[in-house]
Amino acid sequence: MNDLGSIPDDAIPAITTAWLSEAADGIAAAASLLRAGQVVAFPTETVYGLGADATDPGAVARIFAAKQRPRFNPLIAHLADTASAFAEGVFDEAARSLAEAFWPGPLTLVVPAAPDCRVCDLARAGLPSVALRVPAPALTRALLARVGRPVAAPSANRSGRVSPTSADHVLADLEGRIAAVLDGGETPVGVESSVIACLGGPPRLLRPGGLTREALEARLGYALAGPESGDTAHPVGPGLLASHYAPRAQVRLEATSASSDEAVLLFGPETLPGADAARARLNLSPAGDLAEAAAHLFSALRQLDGVGARVIAVASIPERGLGEAINDRLRRAAAPR
Ligand code: TXA
Ligand code: MG
Repeated sequence: MNDLGSIPDDAIPAITTAWLSEAADGIAAAASLLRAGQVVAFPTETVYGLGADATDPGAVARIFAAKQRPRFNPLIAHLADTASAFAEGVFDEAARSLAEAFWPGPLTLVVPAAPDCRVCDLARAGLPSVALRVPAPALTRALLARVGRPVAAPSANRSGRVSPTSADHVLADLEGRIAAVLDGGETPVGVESSVIACLGGPPRLLRPGGLTREALEARLGYALAGPESGDTAHPVGPGLLASHYAPRAQVRLEATSASSDEAVLLFGPETLPGADAARARLNLSPAGDLAEAAAHLFSALRQLDGVGARVIAVASIPERGLGEAINDRLRRAAAPR
């Protein structure tokens, strides 16, 4: 182990990664592998997750090893339905209200773990809290119901890299390191779930994501607090590391022009001076639709990274609605490493 508690590359013997279709036999095979303690990537509405039986520390250890994820960063436990999620945590009024409004959907609630919570300590990184989520797609819920246990799953990418929105992205990062990938096509939301902590104080938005702040605050009837609580009794979750979602190229934000050796990421009808002569250019949504932009964000970063430019210049994107999550991911991608 290195000082981050992650596991070096060579600790994992190469295995054959099975591709499983979304037909019934694919779901059944994925569920059997998960019940047997193997690691299987599966689609959700946000991004592909790298799943393992959350009740089995040996299985969860395989997730950390495959991703090379630092062990202080806890995982989200995925459940087939709201009632199953309620059994794993202690929900205050705000948590219950958000769960009832937005599950199944792209929302993760961090709540105190129930006394008989089945999510193992390793998945929770030893914290007294647990992160719970009920994903929306019928395929995902059928898989989770068939497993019949909470399934721990971070995004199915190597730690610190761009999250996967297709089975191909998963294989590009993890082929030979995981038992299987269940292919459900492209994930429709494209950015990870919104993470909200309900730990006694006012609910705090730990990570902006696929549910907009506007929708969450409309349900609560008040503004969400930020991630920092200033409250030592309820420390903020780890894992909000600055550099994350990092392509190989450098990312330059708020670009107002582009040079010929850069790749360019545009948004909306306007282009940037110099963009036509750049190495490559993609537009997240020519119509300026933030949901469409979120859905395309990670695959666009992967594609532009693939052209080998040293820098990806990104036009500015409005901070409203899903723009908050898009800009959060872009700022992390641009953070120094
Ligand atoms: O959309 C998603 O959320 C995807 C799909 C697969 O569900 N999953 C995902 O997982 O993005 P991951 O591991 O990449 O992000 C989980 C986030 C991390 O920032 C982690 O630190 C935080 O949730 N988290 C998990 N448990 C926590 C806890 N007990 N307290 C605070 N933060 C927690
Ligand atoms: Mg992730």
